[in-house]
Amino acid sequence: MAFEVKTCVMVITMVTFMANLLLVVDANQQVPCYFIFGDSLVDNGNNNLLQSAAKSNYPPYGIDFPEGPTGRFTNGRTAVDVIAQLLGFEFFIPPFATTRGKDVILNGVNYASGGAGIRDETGQMLGDRFTMNRQLQNHQITISQIAFILGNEVAAANYLRKCIYTVTIGSNDYINNYLVPQFYSTSRQYNPEQYATVLTQQLSQQLRTLYGYGARKVALFGVGLAGCAPAEIARFPKTELPCLNWINGDVQLFNTRLKLLVDELNRDLIGSKFIYINVTGITSGNPYAAGFTVANETCCATSMLTKGRCNPNTVPCPDRSKYVFWDGFHPTDKTNVLVASRAYKAQTPFDAHPLDIGALARL
Ligand SMILES: *[C@@H]1O[C@H](CO)[C@@H](O)[C@H](O)[C@H]1NC(C)=O
Ligand SMILES: *[C@@H]1O[C@H](CO)[C@@H](O)[C@H](O)[C@H]1NC(C)=O
Repeated sequence: MAFEVKTCVMVITMVTFMANLLLVVDANQQVPCYFIFGDSLVDNGNNNLLQSAAKSNYPPYGIDFPEGPTGRFTNGRTAVDVIAQLLGFEFFIPPFATTRGKDVILNGVNYASGGAGIRDETGQMLGDRFTMNRQLQNHQITISQIAFILGNEVAAANYLRKCIYTVTIGSNDYINNYLVPQFYSTSRQYNPEQYATVLTQQLSQQLRTLYGYGARKVALFGVGLAGCAPAEIARFPKTELPCLNWINGDVQLFNTRLKLLVDELNRDLIGSKFIYINVTGITSGNPYAAGFTVANETCCATSMLTKGRCNPNTVPCPDRSKYVFWDGFHPTDKTNVLVASRAYKAQTPFDAHPLDIGALARL
């Protein structure tokens, strides 16, 4: 039995490895640099040294990742890891928290942090985190280093406008704020429409700041189907299954505004191209058609104590590629590959608006 499990793990590891190879076959790096902002969906280790409950640098996280547990909240790659591969990078973009040295910084940095939100108070109950505002401050540190390396600010600006930037933020403003009235007052202050508007307005300011720091090619990922996350379903009365449509409805109010924000920023900010990635659209098809067999359960064992994250040192499901969700909130490598692939090369006009990331890179 133990042998069988081992063989199975080996086979899956090999399949994952081969999938890696397939994705990095095109080794021509399409852009000089890639900067990543966001939350635990794309964090790759920035929280490891923080006082935070939002950590994942322990097994079984990273079971299908070459370096093992790194602080990624999934079994293998995050969506931005896959995007880096599709952009032709031969390595993953390193976390800001531990990145030093000019060669590394010039290729881009990942600022994402588990628990982070558009709003500063979001995720407070989980402990310390780099909020979107902090991530922008950290980016300011990076770009002053880049200006130093390249000699002056004009050279830095010329360089930075060629980079790809992705922003994956907003999930925690629901999951670790609006939907937790015991800790946060936002649901008493705002109805769902007002909250979506307030979030979009604040994000608009943040993105204008990012533009001010030289970003010109920016992809915004919409918030996913939070009402389908097993840990959310476990928290609320199961009035409607398989997903809590009232949560997905709240999130969709934000996504609709985010897409409009993209058009607004493209009108207002000269020389910029912002795009919207329709994560809910990409993930709302039939999971069985995409090769999944389990969409309503987590692959690793979770508990209330770990707040939907994997219980440390437990043995996860043997076939990760059958599961949409790895833990109570985060998708598996396979789901991340699906989202990243269609963000990079849209399969329908709904996937990415007005361009996909591949076209953004070619601009
Ligand atoms: C996302 O895509 C779906 C179709 O897959 C579409 O119905 C929906 O309007 C899109 N949402 C946004 C905000 O673009
Ligand atoms: C998930 O769905 C399957 C099949 O519909 C069902 O048997 C199972 O009980 C569900 N699991 C949970 C945790 O709801």
